[in-house]
Amino acid sequence: MRKIFVLIEADFILENYNSNSIKSGNATWKTPSNIALVKYWGKRDPQLPENASVSFTLDACFTLTTLKYTKRHSKLNSESHNGGYNFEVYFEGKKKEDFKPKIETFFKRVEQYIPFLKDFNFIIESRNSFPHSSGIASSASGMSALALCLMSIEKELNLKMTDEYFNKKASFLARLGSGSACRSIEGELIVWGSHKDIKGSSNLFGIKYPNKVHDNFKNYHDTILLVDEGEKQVSSTVGHKLMHKHPFAAQRFKQANDNVSKLSEILQNGELKQFIAIVESEALSLHAMMMTSNPYFILMKPNTLKIINKIWEFRASTNSNICFTLDAGANVHILFPEIEKEEVNNFITSELIQYCQENHYICDRVGIGAKLVSNN
Ligand code: PMV
Repeated sequence: MRKIFVLIEADFILENYNSNSIKSGNATWKTPSNIALVKYWGKRDPQLPENASVSFTLDACFTLTTLKYTKRHSKLNSESHNGGYNFEVYFEGKKKEDFKPKIETFFKRVEQYIPFLKDFNFIIESRNSFPHSSGIASSASGMSALALCLMSIEKELNLKMTDEYFNKKASFLARLGSGSACRSIEGELIVWGSHKDIKGSSNLFGIKYPNKVHDNFKNYHDTILLVDEGEKQVSSTVGHKLMHKHPFAAQRFKQANDNVSKLSEILQNGELKQFIAIVESEALSLHAMMMTSNPYFILMKPNTLKIINKIWEFRASTNSNICFTLDAGANVHILFPEIEKEEVNNFITSELIQYCQENHYICDRVGIGAKLVSNN
C-alpha cells in the first residue's frame, strides 16, 4: 500500500465537484520571488527537474495578484478564442493581450487537475513590487500567485481541504506554469526535486526544507544589484532545452544533487564558509552550462564580473561572510548574514552601486512565503 504522505499526480486531480455552488468571487495573493542556492537548469516534460534545487524564499520582491471570477452560463460560444477559456489580464492597471498566450498555455497544462477553469469568466489583475524591466524574473512570483488564486477557488469547492494539501497542490500547479515558481509558495528554505537526503522531497512540488536550520541563516539578506535591466537575450525555456544534448549534462545533474546533500548539512551546522563555497560554485556552474551549450551564450556583463571580483577582494581583506549568486541574467544577488548587515551595506553602497544600471538595487531578505490578502 502507498504511504499517505507521498502524493502522486493523480492525487492532484479534482473530482466530484459542483461549481454551481459559486456565482462569483475574488481572491488576492501576495507571492514572493525566490533565489536558488543550488540551481535548477535542465528539465523533462512535464516541467520535471533533472536535479533537485534549494532556494531561499524572498520577501520584498513579490507579485500581488487578484483573480476575479464569475460563473459562465455557457461553455460553448467562446471556444474560438483563448483555447475556450474566458479571461482578461491586466498588469499594473493596463490590459495585456501579450500576457495571454503564456496564461493560456498554463491553463491548458493545469486543466486536468482543476477542471473548473472553463466554468468561469476570469479577470486577472497583477502587479510587481519590483520594476517590470529590472531583469528580475517575475515568472516565479507571478505563476505562483495565479496558482494560489486558483487554489482559493478549489478550496471553496472543497472546504475540507487541509492547508498541507492546499500548499502542495498550489506548488504543483505553479510548477506547471514555471518550474521555479513551485518554490515560491512557502518559506524560508524550499527544496524542489526528489532527493535521497531530503525527506518528503518530490519532483512534482516544492517542500519546506524539513530539518532544523542553524540560526546563522535566519534573516539572511539578499541585496540584488541590477546590472542589466533589459529583457534577457536567451529565455530560461531555451536555456533548459539546451541541457538536453549538453556534453556536461550528466555531470552537472550529479554535481547539483551532491551539492544539495552538502548544503543540507551546512544549513544544519551553520558553516558559513562552506555555504559560500557551494553557493558561488553553483552560480558559476549554471553560467558555465550556458557558456558550454550549443549554441553557447553569455548572460553575465562586464559589471557582473567587476562586482564578483570586488566581493572576493572584500572577503579576503575583511573575512566577511558575504557571497554572491546569479540567476539566468547579469544581476548579482549578494547574500550575507543579518549580523554583518552594517559592514556589508556600507561596502555595497560605497563600492558596488556604481556598477548598477542607474545605481539601482533592491534590498531583500529571506521571507516566509505567500500570503492571502483577501478572499471574498
Ligand atoms: O523557472 P524557470 O524555468 O524560469 O527556470 C529558472 C532557472 C534559474 O532561475 C536559472 C535557476 C533556479 O533554480 O531558479
